[in-house]
Amino acid sequence: MVTVKATDKNLEYLKLDEAHVNPVLSRSAKIVAEKAKGSYIYDMNGDAYLDFTTGIAVNNVGHCHPKVVEAVQAQVAELMHTSVVTHHKRYIELSKKLAEISPGRLDSVFLANSGAECVEGAVKMARYVTGRPCIINFRGSFHGRTIFTTALTTSKLVYREKYEPLPGSIHTVPFPYVYRSHHRGNPEACVDETMHQIDMLFKQIVHPEQVAAFLVEPVQGEGGYVPAPVSFLKKLRELADKHGILLIVDEVQTGFGRTGKMFCIEHYGVEPDVMLMAKGIAGGMPLSAFITRKEISQKWQPGRHGSTFGGNPVSCAAALATIDVIENEKLVERSAKAGHEMMEHLRKAFANNPQVGEVRGLGMMIGVELNEKDGSPSHDIAEAVANKCFQNKLLVLTCGSHGHVLRLIPPLTASDEEIKKGLDILVNAINDSCK
Ligand SMILES: Cc1ncc(COP(=O)(O)O)c(C=O)c1O
Repeated sequence: MVTVKATDKNLEYLKLDEAHVNPVLSRSAKIVAEKAKGSYIYDMNGDAYLDFTTGIAVNNVGHCHPKVVEAVQAQVAELMHTSVVTHHKRYIELSKKLAEISPGRLDSVFLANSGAECVEGAVKMARYVTGRPCIINFRGSFHGRTIFTTALTTSKLVYREKYEPLPGSIHTVPFPYVYRSHHRGNPEACVDETMHQIDMLFKQIVHPEQVAAFLVEPVQGEGGYVPAPVSFLKKLRELADKHGILLIVDEVQTGFGRTGKMFCIEHYGVEPDVMLMAKGIAGGMPLSAFITRKEISQKWQPGRHGSTFGGNPVSCAAALATIDVIENEKLVERSAKAGHEMMEHLRKAFANNPQVGEVRGLGMMIGVELNEKDGSPSHDIAEAVANKCFQNKLLVLTCGSHGHVLRLIPPLTASDEEIKKGLDILVNAINDSCK
């Protein structure tokens, strides 16, 4: 992104960062955040940046929501940590709450610290309770950066390259990314193609009785903000039932109102066997969870999995407050309505611009697919747009295997004015970059 001015107050810290922070950690905006409130991040100069990234779909209730801050402060003074030495009430209260808001019969919770950690835990449980080794996942998926979740991740080469050998017994089939498939405009044909590939996998490579779980994102996140066609998840559910395979739905990025439902899977009328959550769960505090049915979790004997920090009282208190805010401020409804309006606005603005291939999404999880003039995915335009937005103090991220999709994930609390301001900057940046 843009280099800072020499007089910039960020500079001193950026120099220290260069000296002492492992350079593997790449940051997309070259500013040093000092504080944040609502929809804005403030850098060391006090400059305000409108945040359409929410720390990658984390700050759904806005930055430093007063109710979350209050809950964290109160909890810090009361109980910070016990680990698995004792039960603690916030863990129990949060588990009960997650069971209440989760779809279907999901009622048994395990808490961890990060998205990758909950993926790992769920896969361990699936293997243990089914007694089967294999996992089927989908091209373009992102499930984390630990060594096992790296093996499950296929959204971009940078996440896998040079980390081999990676754990095995993972079989990857195409995800129905309709726009970039041979079936553009025909989701059913695209879904049939994926189902055919799974069928062939069962005939050629692995018997279905060796498969513990399907692992799927209902909207592929890092892979390009690609919602699964409805019939895909329904067919996957049927196939899972037929073969006794668990359906694990990764809602790490899509959960907690982001897509206009509390959980994205509610759009599909499908009940998963296991649902993964993280990011938006605790308003910015580190926490993740997976929830399953008691009849499944009770086959996993006590002591077979655990975590020192997972489900610490402060993060649990933050999560309870965050879910309260989502419910009381009706942020699920807000996400559905504002997200729909944002997409309508963008579709209208680019109706005559073939380089904006598609504006898609669910709720306030929106992807803008960018094309070169020949229709191929355009990393360069996406980068140029993100840079122009940054110069105009709007933070946006890119995603997709080519880095060719802009992703818009504002706080669900963003006002109409803030959304309009962000969209104005974005539309101008896209118009300038597509020239
Ligand atoms: C769908 C999905 N699963 C898992 C992860 C991994 O989460 P974390 O970075 O907290 O380990 C991510 C992170 O972006 C994600 O989007």
